[in-house]
Amino acid sequence: DRSTTNEFTTQTATDPVPAARRAEMLANPGFGKYLTDHMVTISYSAEQGWHDAKIGPRSDLTLNPSTMVLHYAGEIFEGMKAYPMPDGGGALFRPQANARRFNKSAERLAMAQLPEDSFVAAVRELVRIDRDWIPSGGEAALYLRPFMIGTEIAIGNHPSDSFQFIVIASPVGSYFKGGVSGVSVWVSENFTRAAPGGTGAAKCGGNYAAALAAQKEGAAQGCEQVLFLDAVERRWVEELAGMNVFFVFEDGSIQTPPLTGTILPGITRDSLITLARDRGRTVREEPYAIDQWRADLESGRLVEVFACGTAAVVAPIAQIKGRDFDLTIGSGGMGPVTAELRKALTDIQFGRAEDPHGWVDRV
Ligand code: COI
Repeated sequence: DRSTTNEFTTQTATDPVPAARRAEMLANPGFGKYLTDHMVTISYSAEQGWHDAKIGPRSDLTLNPSTMVLHYAGEIFEGMKAYPMPDGGGALFRPQANARRFNKSAERLAMAQLPEDSFVAAVRELVRIDRDWIPSGGEAALYLRPFMIGTEIAIGNHPSDSFQFIVIASPVGSYFKGGVSGVSVWVSENFTRAAPGGTGAAKCGGNYAAALAAQKEGAAQGCEQVLFLDAVERRWVEELAGMNVFFVFEDGSIQTPPLTGTILPGITRDSLITLARDRGRTVREEPYAIDQWRADLESGRLVEVFACGTAAVVAPIAQIKGRDFDLTIGSGGMGPVTAELRKALTDIQFGRAEDPHGWVDRV
């Protein structure tokens, strides 16, 4: 029972990037530097619902200057990847989980719900038409960026009555310049990311915009990422500007902050919890205080810390710095448990290991 939004009018790009140039881009993709030849668009209006599903040449958007997204930040997005498979094909990873989260974000931002199968079909269509853009080698992949904007033309602030859903794709290598060497993290005291009742659990552009002043403050301190504490007590570790955070203890157990509505429910986070438990590890989804973090580092109880996300994969945190402290974690590189979980996850994603949970979705 396929609705019309799962059937895309297709127009192939007439001037795609030449193969030789594309090969150069794929050999050294950076992160988000290049976009593929095509994009998906689906429109929504109150009268027509979702309609006009198209896949066509990637083009610029033309927006009336009073389009709502430009003023009131009605924007949500997802991050996912198409991975190169050993047989030359490609695969998505848990795309239904992204589709579900997208609709939760939409609900929080008073935006239209997109049927989950339309979301997944749109992403799959784009991967299919741009399959030659899936890089291979190392841990490069094709990053997919589905997003939705409120397109009503209105200066008043109210829920938009029209939306545009778009999917673009970009070949990517490592999110961090240093690859998988340790990331340095600044603990922000001046800023918080999300308060109870706010939009912290939604994947909306506004959360990322609100993190940037703190990120800039961290950069001035020589740190690559910022770590946010909770907005109420300014004590409990929440997450980085665009990644969840995990702690590994001397006894082999793992801890990560619980999903209380102020942090992003990461799909990488969820997958790592499952994989760690599969391997017999104890995983606690419990609050962790910044003072405890410092004390556990000093006592040697805390042995590894890592960040995770679709873009970042699993990245060790090597240094934590705040107004009156500067501590190195472990050896300053990737610890053995971080490496083990990273490998368990990426082996499934890249089709090198069995997929016991049915996460891999061949395109
Ligand atoms: C992702 O990990 O895919 C994200 O959306 C985070 C973003 C900062 C790149």
